[in-house]
Amino acid sequence: MTAEELSFARYAALSEDEAHRRIAAARQRLGERAVLLCHHYQRAEVYRYADLTGDSLKLARLAAQTDAEFIVFCGVHFMAEVADILSRPQQTAVLPDLAAGCSMADMANLAKVERCWRELAAVLGDPDARITPVTYINSAADLKAFCGEHGGIVCTSTNAPAIVDWALARREKVLFFPDQHLGRWTGFKKGIPLEEMAVWDPDLENGGLTPAQIESARILLWKGHCSVHQMFQVEHIRRWRERHPDGFVIAHPECNLDVCRASDHVGSTEYILNTVTAAPAGTRWLVGTELNLVSRLAEQLEPQGKTVEFMAPMVCMCSTMQRIDLPHLAWTLENLAADNVVNPIRVPAHEAEMARAALERMLEVS
Ligand code: 13P
Ligand code: SF4
Repeated sequence: MTAEELSFARYAALSEDEAHRRIAAARQRLGERAVLLCHHYQRAEVYRYADLTGDSLKLARLAAQTDAEFIVFCGVHFMAEVADILSRPQQTAVLPDLAAGCSMADMANLAKVERCWRELAAVLGDPDARITPVTYINSAADLKAFCGEHGGIVCTSTNAPAIVDWALARREKVLFFPDQHLGRWTGFKKGIPLEEMAVWDPDLENGGLTPAQIESARILLWKGHCSVHQMFQVEHIRRWRERHPDGFVIAHPECNLDVCRASDHVGSTEYILNTVTAAPAGTRWLVGTELNLVSRLAEQLEPQGKTVEFMAPMVCMCSTMQRIDLPHLAWTLENLAADNVVNPIRVPAHEAEMARAALERMLEVS
């Protein structure tokens, strides 16, 4: 194929049938050279092409284990960065659409975290002696590198409790970014009183806290959140339980504390899938996470007599996960099959080394 034929403009208007035909053919040409890793939030028409699926932790492990030359990441940018960091130098992680970011990850950046660290130093003295930085995996590689350099660690929605234990065993405080809700829920589960978890607003001097508040906090929660999970409210659960008193509620820990506390189960996307899939036939579930996952689960489990409902009355999809669509997948795979690597994700070497240190600590702990 010519360069012009391989430009994205030629794919944008592909019909669904044509895109499916070309994706299947390109995958056949690529064979084992490419592996498709798919996050559970991917649209149905892309998810069906997954070689392997998972939550962030599982996908990170799979990326570290695969031998494929190309890791085609159907997910968001930070996930492809993790794949690049944990894979070998001769492998290439590819993100079919570079605009597939994560709005929560964008709520923290290196300049703001470094400023926070300086401000904490002015109040607490050497922060490296007193605070462990913990970044949720939903963050850019340079923030993972920051944690690597400062004796910190990465966590996911699955292993956050074990990681916070690890962090607090080393230093008396944790700076948890960028998701305040995952941090608060994790601290709450550990029995840390809410008064000892202070919100750090990166847009205010000293995070908007007094020196006394900083001194008394055990967990400093970065003021970030997921725009999808913030839509779920405890009122949705209360109204549903009135109608279905025997039903079960399951939520992702990116939901706010009230939602997590009102749920029967809280866990990662993989945990949600496994829990509802393993539940007895005839059960009814209310699920607080992204709509693609919930719709797929509802469809798959309906034949077993299970009812799976979405927690919010409005549509909540992760708009950035949605960016990976059939035209982008067809474009990516046909280019790779023609030995033209499009959208490679390459984390600069020094940053990757430090970020790897923080990720490897996480993999050891979990
Ligand atoms: P999981 O690690 O649970 O898949 O969560 C990733 C995510 O971004 C949820 O919004
Ligand atoms: Fe980021 Fe929220 Fe999308 Fe997850 S659902 S990738 S946290 S924006």
